[in-house]
Formats: sequence, C-alpha cells, structure tokens
Amino acid sequence: MKKKRILTGDRPTGKLHLGHYVGSLRNRVALQHEYDEFIIIADVQALTTNWENPEQLSRDVLEVSKDYLAVGIDPNVATIFVQSMVPQIAELTIFYSMFVPVNVLRHNPTIKTEAAQKGYTDLTYGFLGYPVSQAADITFCKAHLVPVGKDQAPHLELTRKIVRRFNELYGEVLVEPEAMIQGLLMGLDGNAKMSKSLDNAIYLADSEEEVLRKVKTAVTDPARIRKDDPGHPEVCTVFSYHKEFSPEFIGELEPECRAGQIGCVDCKKRLAASINTLLEPIREKRAYYDTHIDEIYDILLCGTKRAVEEGANTLDEVKTAMKINYFAEAKAPLR
Ligand code: TRP
Repeated sequence: MKKKRILTGDRPTGKLHLGHYVGSLRNRVALQHEYDEFIIIADVQALTTNWENPEQLSRDVLEVSKDYLAVGIDPNVATIFVQSMVPQIAELTIFYSMFVPVNVLRHNPTIKTEAAQKGYTDLTYGFLGYPVSQAADITFCKAHLVPVGKDQAPHLELTRKIVRRFNELYGEVLVEPEAMIQGLLMGLDGNAKMSKSLDNAIYLADSEEEVLRKVKTAVTDPARIRKDDPGHPEVCTVFSYHKEFSPEFIGELEPECRAGQIGCVDCKKRLAASINTLLEPIREKRAYYDTHIDEIYDILLCGTKRAVEEGANTLDEVKTAMKINYFAEAKAPLR
C-alpha cells in the first residue's frame, strides 16, 4: 500500500529552538518512516515579512537544514526542499488567488495577530496572501496530513476550502488535507509560546553553558520567595519543562517542590542537565554538518528535484482540469 503523504515545514528565519523540537521536529522524526514526508523550507513565506533582507535567506535556509538533519530527519526517507525552487507552488498560488476573496484573508486571525505584532497597517499583497501560497505548499504534492501548531489552523481551514472550491469549479484534482494539531512549549519568560521574536528561547545549537544560563533565567512560581516556601508546580515554567524533558523526575520533584524541600536553583540545575542530555547528540550532529555544507546542498537539491517532479505532475492535471493545458490538448507543434 502506498504511504500517505505529510507536508510540513518552517519559515527559515534562523536557528530552530526547543519549541520547534517539542512542537514539531520530534514528531517529524517519529513519523518519517510511516509516512511519505515532505518538509518545506518556506523561504518565499519568510520574504512576506523580511523582503528588505533577502540576503539573510541563504544563511537561514542552511541553519534550518542543519537543525533538521541534526535532530534525525533522514534525507533518505524524508524529502526536504526549498519553496522558491519549486515554481509550481508559485503557479498554483496564482490560480488559487483568482477565487479567494480578499475579505476571507483580512479576517484570518493569524494574519491579524501577526500584522498587529509587526505593526503593519497597510498590508502588502504578499503578506495578506501568504495563506493562499501556503495552500499551494500543501496541495502541489497532494498531501493528506499537515502537522502544525494551533496558530496555523486557520491556514489549514483555508487550504481545505480552496481544495473544495477548486475541485467543484474544475473537477476532482486536489486532495483535501487534514490538520494534525500539535502542542506548544512555553517560553522561558512564562509566555505561552517559545519564540525567537519574544527572545525567550533555548536553541538546539546552544552550548551546555548557554542552556544552564538560560534555564537560570526561567520564571518560576512568583509566590515562592525563600527556598523553603511551599511551591506551586502548576504555575511554574521550570516544572512544565521537567514534564517535557525529565518526566522521570516528576514523581519526586513535585512533592519536594510543594513541601519547600527543593529550591528553584537546584531544580533548574537538574532541568539544565536533562536538556543538555537531550541536546548533546543533536549538537554533535550539527557540528558535523557545520563542516559538510556541500552535503547539505546535495540533500536540498535532491529533495527539491523530487518536489518539482511532483509539482509538474499536479500542474499538468490542474491545467488540464482548468482547460488551459493548451499544447497538451492540441498536441501543437510547439511540444
Ligand atoms: N506558516 C508556517 C509557519 O510559520 C510555515 C509553513 C509554510 C508551513 N508553508 C507551510 C507549515 C505548509 C505547514 C505547511 O510556521
């Protein structure tokens, strides 16, 4: 039986962090054998907010690739590719944009939040329309399943709408994907989301010392002032990290914290040790790729080639359904 296809990915905006690991990378590694996994490095989407600094992209594409390979994405099973190098994604975006109403995009809650965060008042065409382009990212290879964070759910809903509308207008060509909603990791500052822009992240590439330094800054139970005050693990960021990174300690830590028998400093040291145990092999693999850039380019080229083949097949079907596959139908001499 043919494996079902997954499409997921990231905007290349720098190194990936523990939030990415818990929210998606770990899952991608776990699913890569069971599914035919496509991973998009969405560099065009990064331009929707970073169009003034395109020169950063080539470096960030490499950083994200290193993180993927370091956590254990196997390029022999998964297909890692670069969005801008798959022209069929841009073509599909244009076709979809003909029937997506601007008001639907204006009301997209993720677009609204992001625009407010960035202080955008007059949205660019590309920024307002990136969910349409994301629908093309997902459908050019007929993905069945899209693992994403909750903030991406509106984009998935739009993708599903676009697929239904396209199929209704032109014929059954596209596959309607399912969302697979994944969890978030809190930021060191207690914010609901670890994120680069909030400066509350531990990066996969951070050194052992850096991890310890950052963990020491994590917010804990504000009601706990002295070491022997009783703690409230349910409101503590560090405790929530222990649940993720050292579940084996939870049974003893929780009552110790509640009874004021373990101080936050000790608790943080233990956490840093657990995180470092997780990150050690990842750092090692990353260091290997730091000195093997050519290997990364080979992997990206190979994956992108496979994506382009898929895209060409889909576009052929799309154009035929839309009755604009002129030369294929007429068997014109230009072919
Ligand atoms: N919008 C996603 C993010 O900001 C990145 C992305 C681009 C994506 N294209 C995608 C995610 C397609 C899933 C599927 O994280």
